[in-house]
Amino acid sequence: MSTHPLASIWASFNARTYLQEYYGDVGAENLAYLQFFARRFAALPPQNTLLDFGSGPTIYSVISAAPRVARIVLSDYLAANRAELTLWHENHPQAFNWQPFVATALGCEGLEATPAAIAQRIAEIQQKIVAIRFCDAALDQPLPGWEERFDVLVSNSCADAATNDRTTWQQYLKTF
Ligand SMILES: C[S@@+](CC[C@H](N)C(=O)[O-])C[C@H]1O[C@@H](n2cnc3c(N)ncnc32)[C@H](O)[C@@H]1O
Repeated sequence: MSTHPLASIWASFNARTYLQEYYGDVGAENLAYLQFFARRFAALPPQNTLLDFGSGPTIYSVISAAPRVARIVLSDYLAANRAELTLWHENHPQAFNWQPFVATALGCEGLEATPAAIAQRIAEIQQKIVAIRFCDAALDQPLPGWEERFDVLVSNSCADAATNDRTTWQQYLKTF
C-alpha cells in the first residue's frame, strides 16, 4: 500500500489542463529541456532500456532518447496520466499533439524537421514504448511487478512533486 504523503493533492490533478498549461507551446523553458536531452542523449552510447519515472501525461523527455535505446517504459502514479500516454501511444485522434516538441527536438539534434522526419521519429518512439506502468515513489518497489533493471533513468519534476519533505525526497532519489 502506498504511503504517498501528497496523494490527496494528486487526486484532483487534471492531465489535460496540465498539458495545455505547461506543454501548450514549446517556449523558452521547454526548449532548454529539449536542448539538454538532445545533448545528453547524443553523447550516450546505444542502450537497451530506458525508464521515465513519473512521466505524467508527457513524452517530451524521450523524443531524443528514442534513437539511443531499444525499449522505453513510461510510468506514472495517476491513471489519468497513463490514459493520456496510452492515447498518444495508440495514435488516438484525441491524443495530445507532441509534433511541435518533436520538430523542436529534431532541430536541437541538428536534424531538419521535415514532416517525414517528424512522423518517423514519432513512429520510432511509439514503437519503442513497450509499457506504460503504474509507479509510486513511496513504495519499496516503485515500479510494481517489474523486475528488470533499466540502463537509463529519466525522471523530471517527479520526486519533488511526490513529497514536500527533504528527507523523503532524498530517500525517493535513492530508491529510483
Ligand atoms: C510535475 S508532474 C511531472 C510530470 C512530467 N515528468 C513532466 O515533466 O511534466 C509530477 C508527476 O509526478 C507524479 N507523482 C505524484 N506522486 C507520485 C509518486 N508518489 N510516485 C510517482 N509519481 C508521482 C504525478 O502523477 C505527476 O505526473
